[in-house]
Order: sequence, then C-alpha cells, then structure tokens
Amino acid sequence: MCGIVGLLGRRPAAPLLLEGLRRLEYRGYDSAGIATLAEGRLDRRRAEGKIAKLAAVLEDQPLDGTIGIAHTRWATHGRPNETNAHPHIADGIAVVHNGIIENFQALRDRLEAAGHVFATETDTEVVPHLIAQHQRTGLDPTRAAARAFDELEGAYSLLVLFQSRPDLLVAARRGSPLAIGYGDGEMFVGSDATALAPLTERIQYLEEGDWAVVGEDGAQIHGADGQPVEREIGRTAFSGALMGKGNFRHFMEKEIYEQPSVLGDTLHAFDVGTGEIAMPSLPFDIKAVSRLHMVACGTASLACQVARYWFERHAHLPVECDLASEFRYRRPLLTTDQGAVFVSQSGETADTLAALRLCRAAGVPTVGIVNVPESTIAREADALVRTLAGPEIGVASTKAFTTQLATLACMAIAAAERRGTMDAAELKQAAETLNAVPGHALEALECCAGIQDIAEEFAQVRDLLYLGRGSNYPIALEGALKLKEITYIHAEGYAAGELKHGPIALVDEATPVIVVAPSDDVFEKTASNVQEVMARGGRVLLVTDQAGHRALGDKATWSLVLPTVPPLIAPIVFVIPLQLLAYHVAVRRGTDVDQPRNLAKSVTVE
Ligand code: G6P
Repeated sequence: MCGIVGLLGRRPAAPLLLEGLRRLEYRGYDSAGIATLAEGRLDRRRAEGKIAKLAAVLEDQPLDGTIGIAHTRWATHGRPNETNAHPHIADGIAVVHNGIIENFQALRDRLEAAGHVFATETDTEVVPHLIAQHQRTGLDPTRAAARAFDELEGAYSLLVLFQSRPDLLVAARRGSPLAIGYGDGEMFVGSDATALAPLTERIQYLEEGDWAVVGEDGAQIHGADGQPVEREIGRTAFSGALMGKGNFRHFMEKEIYEQPSVLGDTLHAFDVGTGEIAMPSLPFDIKAVSRLHMVACGTASLACQVARYWFERHAHLPVECDLASEFRYRRPLLTTDQGAVFVSQSGETADTLAALRLCRAAGVPTVGIVNVPESTIAREADALVRTLAGPEIGVASTKAFTTQLATLACMAIAAAERRGTMDAAELKQAAETLNAVPGHALEALECCAGIQDIAEEFAQVRDLLYLGRGSNYPIALEGALKLKEITYIHAEGYAAGELKHGPIALVDEATPVIVVAPSDDVFEKTASNVQEVMARGGRVLLVTDQAGHRALGDKATWSLVLPTVPPLIAPIVFVIPLQLLAYHVAVRRGTDVDQPRNLAKSVTVE
C-alpha cells in the first residue's frame, strides 16, 4: 500500500511528482504529500484526502526545487489526516514510506529518551529521527541512512531526501517494491513502473534487501550484505499515457464492459480457437504432480475456488485453496511433488508474495497467474502466466477476475488433456465452449437491462444474501464481496445448501436473497433452497437462464435471464450481472465507485 515517487534532475519537481502520484493513487488515497529542496531549504505540502486536494494546495502554495519526494497514503498507523501524511521530516531529513515498521514503538521510546520530539502517530516518523541520531554520531547522510535501515524490522520501502544533500536520494527495499528510473541527466524512484512510465522507459528494480544512493547520473546499489551490486536496467512495457474512462462514468463500468474483448485476448493466448488448448510452460509435470496449492487474496482467491471445481472434475487433480494470509501461517504440508499457483491482479499483494516465497523455500515449484507482468510475483514465480485484462484501475476487480477464471479454465482443460482424463471429443467440446465465452459475456451484458430497477430497490436495503452451488458458490461469494466493497451494504455469500444451517434465520422481507442458479446438474437442489427462502417471506432475485426461468421464474420477485451456457463457463458469464448490480447500486447510493473508502487496489502490507 501507499505509493512512493521521487526525482532529482533539472525540471521543476513538484508538477512531475504530482503526476506520478496520480498514477499511483490506486495504491491508497487517504492523504498525500510532497517535499522538495530549493536553495538549501526543505519544504513540504500535505493534504488529507485524494491527490486532487494536494493539487489544490500546491496551486495556492507552489513548491520550488528540482529534487523531491512524494507519497500517497493508505493509513496503517495513525489516522488519515494532514499531520500523519507523508513526507515526515526531522532535522532536515524527509522520508516517505510504504509498509510497516514493526519495531517502531521500541525505536520511538529509545529516540524520545534521547530527546527526539515526535509530532505524529505514525510508525514512519521514527525513520528520519533514527537517521538524524546516526548522523549525530558522525556518520555521513548515506551511511546514517544505511545504519538506520539495518535497525528497522518489518516489510517496507523508503525514500529519503536530505536538506544537506541536494544531489542525492537514498532508497531502500525490504519487502515492498521500489523501482529506479533512468532519464537524461535526471533520475526517478517509484513504487512501480506505472508512476515512472511518462518520465522514462529505462527501469531498474531493486531486489529484496537492496538500498541505493540515487544521484543525477545513476544509482549505486548495495545488496542485503551492504556490498555494491549490479541490477539490470530494462525497458518497461507500461504506457506513459494516463488511462481514460472513454464514454463511461467510472473505470469500473468501463472495465465491466471491456470483458468480452479482454476475455477474447486471454483465451486467444491459449489457442482455444484451434480446438486444442495450449498449456503454458510450467515448472512441474502436470501429469505427475500430486496436488496443486492455489493461493491468493480477495477476488483472486475466489477465482482459485472456482478453479478447484474445474481441476478436480476435469483433470482429476486435487487442489487446495488458501487465502494467502492464512496459508503463510498455517504451516501447510509442502512437498516437492506438489505445485503451487499464485493468482494476483497486481502481482504485489504482500501476503500472496510471502506465500510464494514460502513455497519456493520449501522447493515447491511455483506459477504466478498475474495481470501486471513486471510485478514482483511475476518476476519471482518459477513460471508466469499472464492474464491479458489490460490495466485495471477500478479498485473493485472485475475484468481481472474473469480473465483469471478464463486462464484457470484453460489450464484445467489442458491439464485434463495431459492427464488423459478427458477424451478427444470432450476436449474438442471444451475448447469450443471456451471459445464462445467472449460472445456469451457480451450477451450477459446485453440482457441485464432490468438491472437498473432492481438496483433502485436494493440501494435502500441494509443486508443481502447471495447463494450459489458448485462452481457458482464462489460466484455468490464474489457477488457479495463486490456489493460490500463499493456500496457499503452488508452482504454475505453462502453455499445454497448451507442456508438451512444458519443464514436462513436472517431471511425476511427486508433482506433480499440473490440466487445464482444456471440450469445445471445441481439446479434442482438450489431450487429447493429458493423455495425455503420464499416460504419464509424472503424476496428472491433469481439469476438464471431460460430453462431456470421457466422452472422457477414465476416464484421469484425479480429475475435476470442470462444466455444458456455449458456448466464449464457458467461462473465466467454469471458473475457479470452481479458486477453490474453492485455497480448500479453504488451509483444510486452515490459512493465513490472507483475508489471506495478504506480500500486500495494493491495491498503491499500484510
Ligand atoms: C485488494 C483489492 C481486491 C483484490 C485483492 C487482491 O484487496 O481491493 O480487489 O482482489 O487486493 O489483489 P491482487 O492484486 O493480488 O489480485
């Protein structure tokens, strides 16, 4: 979480830093700040709220200088107000920070005892004080910074600007990513290449434990052992252009409607149109592997849960799904005959990354299914499979999710082919089914016309239940998650069969129940659960197909009738109306759809 950007060179720093922050706003948006150095004077502007607020402050009170650092925050320690906004300054040392300093209290106690006075509630503020303390013992600024980094515990990245050194910045990476950009007589530092893309294509990623002294002509990098190291300078594929919303009101709406096209791109990479699905190169033998671990957070973890149904049913391959934050601490039984798959839009989620490293350390071969190809997970996994969703800006994931599903479905069928668990006719049929996904996604978008009226009613309710069965159970969970994220209405997803074991107590007229029920082999079972809801006065929104509607539509309060699709791809198609429903409810409630409160797109703290 939190976005860092810094630069030193020839041009006025503040406008470029502000532009960098705008591109990093997906990492957090509760407060922001910039510090620059001009004529030997360190100065800063900070504001609570989004980058636009900081821009307004800078308009009134501009900052001079050609060297500076900047930050957009997602609060961990201390409320999101102006005082706690970065950069934090002490004794002419300004610091921006992403991550958590776990031993900050002990350091703060020590520094306060030594006479340092603190102004904020943040963990970050110990860093400039600690560096200042080391400078007092006679160390020069860069050595003092390196000494301070050695004392910090936790996962973080840092960027430091010294009033006494207008010619350099010091950067450190311990657990959170940081990239250095090379310009013409100018140097840049950013949380990722997104921030730096308009400034330069030439990017160097710091590795774990690295710290760097960045001067006008280049960066001197030191490894975890303090010794100088070389890191490759590559060309970033990120576009310098800021993404636009086109004719859509929000990025989320645009991204929902992009799904037919990005699903086509993703499926095309698997050659589904040829009738044979290509298996990406994997670091393990899919025929021999004893089980797969699938690990992720948030929406990506729900893609894994759907994939478990596919891999087990079609490829007869056991799958264990874990939330990354649980996996890393539950001491999973890892053996080298297993494979591990990590699914992440950003490729930077701290818990998913830590789980990946845990598997690598245990000798379990790892695959990253990632949307951002230059991300840490993409670089650290033994094999990378890209989802081709394109940049996803809305914090609530939509097109990244469906492209994750499409990727996992292709991999499951390709695994079935390798493992001999589907015959030639079944494989051909599956490829044709997958090839039809973009068309069905388009139909799903088109047949949701009535959704606006339903959204109008749902915008007034306090609680909602979502039910699904089989591979559509995780889709019910995703529907509930989407609604919670952007409308702030309480929603829970349940396996339809679990209803009677507890959640049925919540059913009344005020709590609509959304039932995801394509007419598949478990439809009859779900239909019984719908009857149970209605018998208790519950109002049901039935999300189904023509056959399902014929069977149950007259009993439901509302229906959304989707195209009839084979069960394999139903989760990909049936999630689309749930995304749209959440979107339209959010619009009616007037929430900040693309940047909902308290959330961030890329969660780089655990
Ligand atoms: C955050 C986002 C979610 C996302 C999750 C995992 O919580 O708000 O939309 O599903 O992180 O992110 P990843 O980038 O690993 O898919």
